[in-house]
Amino acid sequence: MKNTDRLKSEFLKVREWVESGMDDIIPKVEEYPSIIHQSVRYSIFAGGKRIRPLLVYLSYLLFDKDFDKILSVACAVEMVHTYSLVHDDLPAMDDDDLRRGKPTNHRVFGEAVATLAGDTLLTMVFELLPERLLKKKFKPGTILEFFTLLAGNIGSRGLVGGQVVDIISQGKEISLETLEYIHKNKTSKLFEVCILGAAIFGNASKKEKQILKNFAYNFGMLFQIVDDILDVEGDTELLGKPVGSDTDLDKATYPALMGLDKAKDMAKEYRDNAILDLEKLKKKNTDILTDLTEYIFIRQE
Ligand code: IPE
Ligand code: IPE
Ligand code: MG
Ligand code: MG
Ligand code: MG
Repeated sequence: MKNTDRLKSEFLKVREWVESGMDDIIPKVEEYPSIIHQSVRYSIFAGGKRIRPLLVYLSYLLFDKDFDKILSVACAVEMVHTYSLVHDDLPAMDDDDLRRGKPTNHRVFGEAVATLAGDTLLTMVFELLPERLLKKKFKPGTILEFFTLLAGNIGSRGLVGGQVVDIISQGKEISLETLEYIHKNKTSKLFEVCILGAAIFGNASKKEKQILKNFAYNFGMLFQIVDDILDVEGDTELLGKPVGSDTDLDKATYPALMGLDKAKDMAKEYRDNAILDLEKLKKKNTDILTDLTEYIFIRQE
């Protein structure tokens, strides 16, 4: 890694930036009906690495220094991500009790409110974004391009599709092709919203968008394979979620399909491909994105 200190300080800066943005956007707990706002705020402010907002920010910086213009986009991807985690932990899905170092949303607020908290986070994004982006003087056509990407990538041809195949593959032997489908859809597609979305607002060229789309795919695959590996040999305390959850549910994961060593080789391959994609962005300084990619491979949390 070239500059660990810079990466650390960007993480801290983005955390503050996006958390204060979300605090402004999300209704206060006093607002009626209080229980849903308590539940939403509980999961949003429970912690989390904020990697998706960081990717929005770093990708936008490739094109424009005025990153405050896309604060609402950084908040939106974190809200969609948090919705997906709240639902992912429900008894009907992964049935987990710990998330971001705290009891899962449904353990505190019950399944009905947790389900509705996820729905709230998802729909709030569609309420808040258009007005905020128009205020920042983005063109309606640009906003529409982003919305088409967002909605497409998180529905049944994206995140939801990946989650569905994840669930129906439990306890089954599946092909590498199906496993790749799961990871690409449940994880890479939202990273694509962050990275390609920032490029759309940054007026990137067609070629730059294609390169960043490939980067997002490789980055997401790397991220999810490492997540699978950490479920086997990570530390519950550091991860803030239970280790061994995938094994308990007989989930389709890279370590389960090919063993830990081969899963690590695959993660390396996606890491190297992601870095090669960044190198294709001539004339852009991608050092920090390269550092982030390398960090994802060695992360313990
Ligand atoms: C967890 O995502 C879900 C996956 C896609 C593997 P993160 O590891 O980014 O979770 P938080 O946001 O830091 O809690
Ligand atoms: C979840 O994958 C991906 C989404 C929430 C879309 P996992 O089920 O592996 O995520 P964790 O391990 O519970 O965070
Ligand atoms: Mg899951
Ligand atoms: Mg899970
Ligand atoms: Mg996991």
